[in-house]
Amino acid sequence: MAAIKPLIAGNWKMNGSRSNISDFAAIASGYNKTDTGKADAMICPPFTLLAALANHPDAGALAVGAQDCHVAQTGAHTGDISPEMITDCSASAVIVGHSERRADHGESNELIAQKAQASWRAGLMAIICIGETEQQRQNGDTLSVVESQLTGSVPQGATAKNTVIAYEPVWAIGTGLTASVEDVAEVHGHIRQLLVSSFGDEGASMRILYGGSVKLGNAAQLMAVDNVNGALVGGASLKPVDFLGILAAI
Ligand code: 13P
Repeated sequence: MAAIKPLIAGNWKMNGSRSNISDFAAIASGYNKTDTGKADAMICPPFTLLAALANHPDAGALAVGAQDCHVAQTGAHTGDISPEMITDCSASAVIVGHSERRADHGESNELIAQKAQASWRAGLMAIICIGETEQQRQNGDTLSVVESQLTGSVPQGATAKNTVIAYEPVWAIGTGLTASVEDVAEVHGHIRQLLVSSFGDEGASMRILYGGSVKLGNAAQLMAVDNVNGALVGGASLKPVDFLGILAAI
């Protein structure tokens, strides 16, 4: 089995205006000077910046993804964006099922699975997010929660090319807290087992990202854990120096 090429993806969430296009350009410039064969890199800006970044003349190998999509291709869905519209912007991926969407918009595993399928229909790679809350971890339910989210939100047809899994413990997001190396190893190992049993060789080579307060100071340690194939970075992806430093830690 070929080695898995890691992915460092930045999720800008609801941050960024046109003045931040220069930050994207700085990240692109730094990344394109490195050996881009070593790790893939991506920025997921808000929709308002998607076309500008995905068509940026200096993007080079730096990919661009969206943060959510609707299930339908077109129609009467005011305020929503379809996967086909994301492809039309020249973006190549979409995050689905982020815990902030699960919490803010009541998104279910079933809906997230439909969004993943819709994103494949448009030729996008789906970054499917899962992760337990603090309460669920305290109750000792982490592995069962992650298992039911994975089973419920990753549809049949997932391959190493069209799907990336992001494990993001909710209590570690934006809090400065990170899961311990032992906890990350345990959860990622469990996710790998489940992926292999559902998707065989594709599951064995599917990327599993860790997310939750990944920063310069902890990236190298986290990225060295078994079955961690990159990171989904929130806050630190807004600062080019930090994001590039995380990329260099791979
Ligand atoms: P932070 O890196 O800001 O904790 O965010 C993680 C995240 O939610 C990425 O999707």
